[in-house]
Amino acid sequence: MFVSDVGRTWLNHPWKTKSRLLTERSEIDELIQFGIEEVYIDTSKSVKAPKTPPAQRPKPVPPDPKGGLHETRAPVKKVEPTVAMESEFPKAAKAYSKALDTSKALVAACRMNKRIEVSEVQENVDELVESVSRNRDALTALIKLRHFDDYTYTHSLNVSVLSISAGKTLGLTDAELKTLGLGTMFHDLGKLRIPDNILNKPGKLTDEEFEIMRNHAALSAEILTEQNLNVSDLVIHVARSHHERIDGSGYPDHLQGEQIPPLAVICGLSDVYDALTSDRVYHKGMLPHDALKFIYGLRGSHFQPDWVDRFVQSVGIYPPGSVVELNTGHLAVIMEVNNRSLLTPLVKVVADPHGQLYQRPKLVDLNKPAENQGWTITRVVPPNEAGFEPASFYNFTAG
Ligand SMILES: [Fe+2]
Ligand SMILES: [Fe+2]
Repeated sequence: MFVSDVGRTWLNHPWKTKSRLLTERSEIDELIQFGIEEVYIDTSKSVKAPKTPPAQRPKPVPPDPKGGLHETRAPVKKVEPTVAMESEFPKAAKAYSKALDTSKALVAACRMNKRIEVSEVQENVDELVESVSRNRDALTALIKLRHFDDYTYTHSLNVSVLSISAGKTLGLTDAELKTLGLGTMFHDLGKLRIPDNILNKPGKLTDEEFEIMRNHAALSAEILTEQNLNVSDLVIHVARSHHERIDGSGYPDHLQGEQIPPLAVICGLSDVYDALTSDRVYHKGMLPHDALKFIYGLRGSHFQPDWVDRFVQSVGIYPPGSVVELNTGHLAVIMEVNNRSLLTPLVKVVADPHGQLYQRPKLVDLNKPAENQGWTITRVVPPNEAGFEPASFYNFTAG
């Protein structure tokens, strides 16, 4: 039968387009997996008309003729944690280290052309999704606090965490988050087939080297296809299309606007953010708000403006784990982002205006006038200037 509309925003279904001729039972299962219970069927386009005509239903809202990811314009809901940061943090730390081990094993397997253990990666991704569902900020804080591991292993995991968290803010279902998590874990596997002298070149790449480097996205998809893994096509789309940009300047297929699978857009945003903020051998990473400013500059050219806005709402101008100075000179560590009010996160005030650390740091919601004592954030303190390890205020030792 010909499905003319899946009745959901195109962000929330597994296909690139809303309509398609279904030939296999598995395609229906794919929709069910995404939580879709009803679809619109066009009997005139179906190969064999169903016995009973579909019931009369209100016509779905036609897509925005201008294109773009218009459904994201609905106001973003505040994502409320169901578990406090302090109790989620140790669980998130455990899930993160486990996933990091898997990430290392994944790289090793690909280097030796061994089979990828998808079920293991999926299991880790499920744990990440569960942690983000309980408290979105525990894992994102970890990304910020654990700055001692090799980028080769942490990058894909960090992109996965950032994407799941952004996807949560965007209202994706758990099934969608798990697909996104898996795709992002695999997104750069193709880099393992790029010669080391190009991949790790300290200076600028030549045009020719850049061309070779750009192959990595298609190679990631190729590895997944070659291995004939039991993963949805969407996972492969994320890997192949994470460098596509809405103005067609991306690669490998020069897709434009809505042609880019939505999950690949989320992966693309997280990818740029993690690359900019990570410390590498040859340069220091940018502070989060500087990276977000940079990404904001890509609004309308590389990424659809609404999606950039949503990404910023998810990551927060002051991401968890950042150290900030307040208008009184007190120092505070960001605990949770308020995605409806980015300038007033939940913080722990850890030091007095002389930089003296408190024995008992106080948890303060800067968005609650009864708590905030007129405090506002005036400055981000770079990690090396803080004079203390912000991780210690999460009851967690980085190391
Ligand atoms: Fe990439
Ligand atoms: Fe990447």
